[in-house]
This record gives sequence, structure tokens and C-alpha cells, in this order.
Amino acid sequence: MPDLKLPMRFSLISALASMFMAISGCAAPYSKNTAFNAASYPGIDPVLGESLYPDEAAIAEEIADAIEQSIRKQYASGNALRDAHPKAHGCVRAEFHVLPTLPDKLAKGVFIPGKTYQAWIRFSNASPDAAKADIKRDARGMAIKLLAVPGEKIIGGEAATQDFIMINHPVFFANEPGRYRSLIQDTNSGSFFKKLHIPFALGAKGTMIALSLNTRISNPLQARYWSMVPYQLGLGADRQAVKYSARACSAERDPMPDHPGHNFLRDALKNSLKKKDACMEFLVQPRTSNTLLVEDSMTEWKEADAPFYPVASIRIPEQVFDTPEQNKFCENLSFTPWHSLPEHKPLGAVNRLRKVIYEQVSRVRHEMNAAKRQEPW
Ligand code: HEM
Repeated sequence: MPDLKLPMRFSLISALASMFMAISGCAAPYSKNTAFNAASYPGIDPVLGESLYPDEAAIAEEIADAIEQSIRKQYASGNALRDAHPKAHGCVRAEFHVLPTLPDKLAKGVFIPGKTYQAWIRFSNASPDAAKADIKRDARGMAIKLLAVPGEKIIGGEAATQDFIMINHPVFFANEPGRYRSLIQDTNSGSFFKKLHIPFALGAKGTMIALSLNTRISNPLQARYWSMVPYQLGLGADRQAVKYSARACSAERDPMPDHPGHNFLRDALKNSLKKKDACMEFLVQPRTSNTLLVEDSMTEWKEADAPFYPVASIRIPEQVFDTPEQNKFCENLSFTPWHSLPEHKPLGAVNRLRKVIYEQVSRVRHEMNAAKRQEPW
């Protein structure tokens, strides 16, 4: 009698491997970059609950180097894509309207009551396989880039942008940099037995989260997105830790298509924006207690304990976005949580790793494509 459970085990392992590669970047064996600069690694804010893990800066460099090698190998023939979230449904023009009245504790950084920012929003699938059909389960990304934001940014100096990066799930599947590194080793190993080790490396909780990140959606404008990891809001004595979320203004949901095309999420975005403007709201979730941990990206800050407050409405005007020029522009954008005012400083180990990794990966793909790497104004 055939072991009917075996295919399920294979698909569980492959779902985990692909989900882990999607969110955290795939990787080849390491080559340690000895030239890394630990001095530029983000400092921590113990008052907001941050604490450093051992060897974080070096581990971040190792992961970044490994992803660089992987991209150089995968795209040796040219046209390098993002390592994670390479498949865009589109980059759309948007307006980010901060609400006219906000409580003082939320009116910080870019959240200036009544202010409007022009913005770009890139909707994406997380899978490292840019050719994967949209109907297959995956995590979905929404990356917002506000323009003409004055003030010195944490990276990019006087660049005029503030990025908010979200996925359609409230929590991330790992916390610890060292564990992360071993997950990458397992995921990218050519050995099936190493891949079998992934659920052990992730742990039961990480495995459950990784699996629940695999979702189906019918329209990127109708999903709900979360920052997963925390950010500072404000400066000085009244600074606090918050998370972000974005969701559609209405509860309207498109049905799943009966015969979904390969890129039906791009089609859904196109069809929606051909007919009318879209509306989303942007929410902030202040941390209400020290029991909601800043260094634990795997535990949700339950809304019952820490409510979300709307701070902005996002208008995505009726538009045609699917042109070769705009798609190329979209490809060449770089989103990172560290394109940020100090008032919105990314918090926690996952974000600290991302500072090193996103910068390096973006540089590599731009260099390989001979594309200019610059923030839009
Ligand atoms: C250590 C953990 C993580 C690693 C190593 C990682 C890695 C990456 C990499 C390499 C890219 C492509 C960057 C580029 O080429 O410009 C990327 C993009 C992205 N990541 Fe992560 N990521 C991590 C955590 C997260 C988390 C917690 C989120 C949750 C919001 C997230 C959401 C995204 C999204 C939405 C994009 C696409 C941005 C765009 O549209 O350009 N990542 N990630």
C-alpha cells in the first residue's frame, strides 16, 4: 500500500522552503565578507524594548552576502529581479492623506494632520519565483513610498522618501538572527535531508506561521496588510513602539475568478483602476504594554489588547499603470524600512537585519542591470 502521507510531507517541506525563501531571501552557501562595517549596524533602544542578539551585525552580513551570491548565480544571464517579492502586480500612483485631526501621540513624523503626500505603491507576490501563477498560495506584499518628505532620513540622507512595507499577515515566522541563518542554510541546501530539518529549525510556532502566510487573494486592493514588525513613532521622551496596517475602505470583495489567468492579480488591479478610484486606510497600532514584545515578531499584538487607529486615507486614483515605462520604473525602485525619518525608526532584530540585507541586495540587482539606483523625488 503506498504511503499516502508522503506527498503531503513533501508538499509541506516544499511549501515551507518556498515560503521561507520568499520572505527572507534565498541563498547560496556563504562566503563571509570580512569587510563588513559593524559600526553602521543599527543601535538599539532598550527603553522601547530592543535588545541585541549575539553577533547580529556579522550574521546580517553573512545573510546579505549569501543572497548576493544567489542573485548573481540565478540571474547570471541578466535582468536581475528582487530576491524576495520579484513579481509585481503593478506600481500605482497614490495619494496619502493624513487625517485632519489626530491625537497628539500619533501626530508624529509624516503624520502631520491634514497633510497630503504623493506616493507610489508596489503590490507583489512574495515567492522568489517570479513566474509563479497568482492562484497558487503565497504571501502578498504592499510597499508604500511617500514622496517629497522633508528631513534627513536614516539612510539616503536627504532623499525625499518614507517607505512603509507590509505583508497580508500580522506576524513573521522567526525572531532570532542565528536561527535565521540556519534556516537559510537548510532552505538552500541541495540536500533533501537538510530541507527536512526546516520545521525543526523554524520550531512549531514558526512552522505554523510560515504555512499560514500562504494565502489566496482575489484583488490586491482588497487584502489587509500588516507591518509584522514594529517601528518607533516620535522622538524623545514620548516616543513609542507601533505597528502598521493597511486595509480597503469598504468590505467589498471580488469573487475568486473561475478560470484565473496566470497574472490575474495584475488584471484585477488593472480592471479596478480602469473603472474608478480605490480607497484604503492606513492604521497605526501603538504598543499598550511592555508585555507586547518588540523583539518578538512571531507573537501578534492582539487588537483587543492594542487597538489600531486610522491615521491616513490612501486614494489610488483611476489610472493606467501597466505600461512598459512604468513597469521598468517599478522594477528599479528600492523599498526598505530604513528609507525613513528617525521618527519612524524600524525596531527589532528582523528590521535591523533588513537594513544590511535590503541595501546590499538592491545595490547588486541595480548594478547587474546597469540601472541607476536613486530615490524618486
Ligand atoms: C530578515 C528578514 C527579511 C529578509 C532577509 C528579507 C529580504 C528581502 C529582500 C532581499 C527583498 C528585496 C529587496 C530589493 O531587492 O530591493 C525584500 C523585499 C520585500 N520584503 Fe522582505 N525580508 C525580510 C523581512 C520582511 C518582513 C518582516 C516583511 C513584512 C512586511 C517583508 C516584506 C517585504 C516586501 C513587501 C518586499 C517587497 C518590497 C518591494 O515591493 O520592492 N520582509 N525582502
